[in-house]
Amino acid sequence: EKGGFPSFMEKEINEQPMAVEQTLMGRTDPEGNLVLDELKIDESVLRAVDKIVVVACGTAAYAGQVARYAIEHWCRIPTEVELAHEFRYRDPIVDERTLVVALSQSGETMDTLMAVRHAQEQGAKVVAICNTNGSTIPREADAALYTHAGPEIAVASTKAFLAQITAAYLLGLYLAQLRGNKYKDEIAGILAELEAMPAKIQAVIDTQDQVKSLAQQMKDAASVLFLGRHVGYPVALEGALKLKEIAYIHAEGFAAGELKHGPIALIEEGQPVFVIVPSPRGRDSLHAKVVSNIQEIRARGAVTIVIAEEGDEAVADYANHVFRVPQAPTLLQPLLATVPLQIFACELATAKGYDVDQPRNLAKSVTVE
Ligand code: F6R
Repeated sequence: EKGGFPSFMEKEINEQPMAVEQTLMGRTDPEGNLVLDELKIDESVLRAVDKIVVVACGTAAYAGQVARYAIEHWCRIPTEVELAHEFRYRDPIVDERTLVVALSQSGETMDTLMAVRHAQEQGAKVVAICNTNGSTIPREADAALYTHAGPEIAVASTKAFLAQITAAYLLGLYLAQLRGNKYKDEIAGILAELEAMPAKIQAVIDTQDQVKSLAQQMKDAASVLFLGRHVGYPVALEGALKLKEIAYIHAEGFAAGELKHGPIALIEEGQPVFVIVPSPRGRDSLHAKVVSNIQEIRARGAVTIVIAEEGDEAVADYANHVFRVPQAPTLLQPLLATVPLQIFACELATAKGYDVDQPRNLAKSVTVE
């Protein structure tokens, strides 16, 4: 049932092109408009939304952070992301014009379910993005947008993460289309870029031997750090979470801009640091900022492991190791940049002899608060 793979996690990492493809499938009409039939919330309500709050836990919350950059950019609706358990217990400001988006692979996470109920009590509409048909969260939500990643068996989430991000992009594009804002004309182009992602994810998977050999070399690392900016930041957090969860190694993700506000003090000779580099073709000099962060840590002895776009030569001089991902628009890059981090964690945990599918102390769905 593992389809020839040594673990469900490895199988599910390899299924990611399909997970994204299936999540995109059947969601456009012949004219190229996005149709989300399942979004059974009155269009007038969706047009009036003045705030979006994404609630989720763990990996799903990192998918939510990625979604925030995309939704705010495409829809110009203020969007917050909050851990469901923190949201629930802080008297959040939510009303009829708030759209709450609950992200959950299992649809049974109690913390997320309680946040959904709390939001509904305040009059907010809730869209659930879930991978498990008929589970509690999509049943209680006002509408459900399913990811079609297929069953995820390994405790550590991989393909569901990419599918959640994909579904959240669709929701963002749908709201932009519905509200007819200035990005409306770009939607078809972004959808075409999204359709191209499964093949690009496959291209990243095809380079996995390179990542695996580094993971084996690094199996005795005591701590690994991850840096990213913009959408690369939640990718860094996710890379660190995977390593903690299955390889039991201390790992932390940082916003690269925070380095000089504290974390750079952790850098000493030999400290491995993954850096997620944004596209050099992107806006706002993001790329140059991250390259200078790589220089800063390299100068202090870090072993830099850089995830960068094909053709990005600016990183070569400061990287001890470079993993390449195909070119893609900045907002979509998490679908690619996450993959080497998943492979790295899976291989490193395997090299240490751990059961990657059943990490200690963890359950696949957390049905208690
Ligand atoms: C990480 C992981 C957890 C879940 C979290 C939410 O690999 O699996 O952090 O992402 O418990 O679970 P769902 O998405 O089922 O609500």
